[in-house]
Amino acid sequence: MASKIPELSSLVSTAQAAFSERFHGRPDIAVAAPGRVNIIGEHTDYNDGFVFPMALPLVTVMVGKHTDSNKCKIFTLAENVDQPHEVEFQVPTPSHPLKPHKPNWANYVKGVVANFHGPVSGFDAVITTSVPLGGGLSSSASLEVATYTFLEVLMGTKAPSLQAKALACQKAEHEFANMPCGIMDQFISTMGSKGHALLIDCRSLESKLVPLSDPSVTFVITNSNVRHTLTGSEYPTRRRQCQDAAKIMGKESLRDATLADLENHKSAMVEEKELYNRARHAISEIHRTEEAVSILKNGDYNTFGKLMTESHNSLRNDYEVSCPELDQLVDLALAVSGVYGSRMTGGGFGGCTVTLVKQENVEDLIGHIKQNYKGTPTFYVCAPSHGAQEVSLLHKKA
Ligand code: GLA
Repeated sequence: MASKIPELSSLVSTAQAAFSERFHGRPDIAVAAPGRVNIIGEHTDYNDGFVFPMALPLVTVMVGKHTDSNKCKIFTLAENVDQPHEVEFQVPTPSHPLKPHKPNWANYVKGVVANFHGPVSGFDAVITTSVPLGGGLSSSASLEVATYTFLEVLMGTKAPSLQAKALACQKAEHEFANMPCGIMDQFISTMGSKGHALLIDCRSLESKLVPLSDPSVTFVITNSNVRHTLTGSEYPTRRRQCQDAAKIMGKESLRDATLADLENHKSAMVEEKELYNRARHAISEIHRTEEAVSILKNGDYNTFGKLMTESHNSLRNDYEVSCPELDQLVDLALAVSGVYGSRMTGGGFGGCTVTLVKQENVEDLIGHIKQNYKGTPTFYVCAPSHGAQEVSLLHKKA
């Protein structure tokens, strides 16, 4: 059986009750921002390429209210975050800007407060989430985008555009979490739409909603529930290797390079032998993503699934961001009838896989993996959901 995804109203109600207990009073703002699963287009966003994520019904919820103090007080109900679960900081001013500090979870909130497009007042807030933390489903971006959305409602002013909002959240992550991520996670959490995945051109920043509502197929997310600790240093290294490879080919980014360019410059990449393979992944993945999205329009799931599996192989062999657990999950999925394709999703080194499967074979897939995977997996069967939004508070007294 797949995990039951908590209803949005139940997350709001939990956060609301915790708010009343902590801060004595009722919140008057509630917002939610989703995590995401990337269907194809991995490690392409920072190469100016294409990505194709969808927003999940797994969300981060923030409830709260304005206060007349100049303090931001935030309490998190999230499990598995560093202590303390409550932080308090001054509304930043030019002479007292915010800086990252412990606990780590609060840096995402602080980073967004620091990068909000207008002034911020004091507030009290409670956070809760159904996005598994560190599971590769963008729990961080969902917290950033929830915070930005909360501040928009609090201050009564929207970001100049959805792109500007997502970029401010990405900047928060760069500056306050020291993670040089691309734009994908914040874009989809901001712009996701029910029944659609989002094709994002990470060079022009234009995005296009693509309907994804055929009831005969579904995407199953399998959480390996492992996270290897090398993730921290590996991501910036991959980014740098891609830049170096582009530079050797005289290109602004790998978006401009072809596999033929790469062959022509192979001999110039001998000093760091990984460059060739890293670039081969990024260049081929950018093309695969474009191809996959155009194929999807014809409902050709066989070819779409093959491209997903090719993406996994490229991430495993050339980009070297997979791990034995993710490889095993993909192999197990591909052995099940009705499965079109399967791949690791997100940054890698643990986290989740995403599998395209006929609806009628979902339980076979879950059963087969449960029986044979060497760890303890968690499954989510999700339809594409909303991007960040203000949501209703419950009216009965919390
Ligand atoms: C992480 C980053 C994204 C993207 C993916 C890999 O999730 O936050 O920007 O680079 O890895 O596709």
